[in-house]
Amino acid sequence: MLSISGLEVSFQGSPVLNGLSLSVVAGETVGIIGPNGSGKTTLFNCISGFVTQRGGTIALRGEEIQDLQPNARALRGLGRVFQNFGVFRNMTVLENLLLALESRSDQMLSILPWSSGRAQQKEQALALLREVRLEEKASLKASSLSGGQMRLLEIIRTVAAGAEVFLLDEPTAGVSPRMKDDVTGIIRRLQELGKTVMIIEHDITFIERFCTRIVVVNEGRIVLDGTPEQVRSDEQLKEIYFGRA
Ligand SMILES: Nc1ncnc2c1ncn2[C@@H]1O[C@H](COP(=O)(O)OP(=O)(O)O)[C@@H](O)[C@H]1O
Ligand SMILES: [Mg+2]
Repeated sequence: MLSISGLEVSFQGSPVLNGLSLSVVAGETVGIIGPNGSGKTTLFNCISGFVTQRGGTIALRGEEIQDLQPNARALRGLGRVFQNFGVFRNMTVLENLLLALESRSDQMLSILPWSSGRAQQKEQALALLREVRLEEKASLKASSLSGGQMRLLEIIRTVAAGAEVFLLDEPTAGVSPRMKDDVTGIIRRLQELGKTVMIIEHDITFIERFCTRIVVVNEGRIVLDGTPEQVRSDEQLKEIYFGRA
């Protein structure tokens, strides 16, 4: 599904990704952990096109996308879920989803008469809101949502935009314990839908609920790619990752 090879990124001449390579199969969920500043978010920014690589290739379903703009990558099914970005706070929750549905390239709705196309989109949008129990918030401004509800909206608007690959950067950061279960629920739903998911998380206990594969990034390289058990028992890793604790 996603194949990254030899990715190199530098900021002001200092390397942040050092020839990082990684392949993810369709329908797989991969957890990504690593110390602060190790390049995890930069990896997502590079995959989604918000940061330009100095070297290396990124292929989505076998097609190289590294020279495409972010919106062109999104239209091919790449879903970067941003925190506090991508959701329009002054629009209603429903309008946010309608906008995402309209951004899709694969929609047949544009050939339907305007009103029936709109009605169908509204039905789809409401169905998505029901998935995350936000239906009754449909007509409220997005700015009125709690941190956790906002996170759910960010994820389902990416579903609405037609994403097949989801890049989730610390999806539970700043989310209340109760809402964490809802975030867990929507990630499981993405898995049921056969989506490909990459999750950056601090908390290995949280991500191992979803994935049997965890990738550890340190200084812009993958230093371990294995099961949660392998990650937990790796001695070198304890030093770089858990060492300071
Ligand atoms: N846009 C940017 N401009 C300059 N430096 C950046 C930028 N984004 C990230 N960095 C630097 O790159 C390194 C990796 O950052 P990041 O990818 O955010 O790490 P992580 O997500 O693993 O904590 C850090 O040293 C950070 O300061
Ligand atoms: Mg980060």
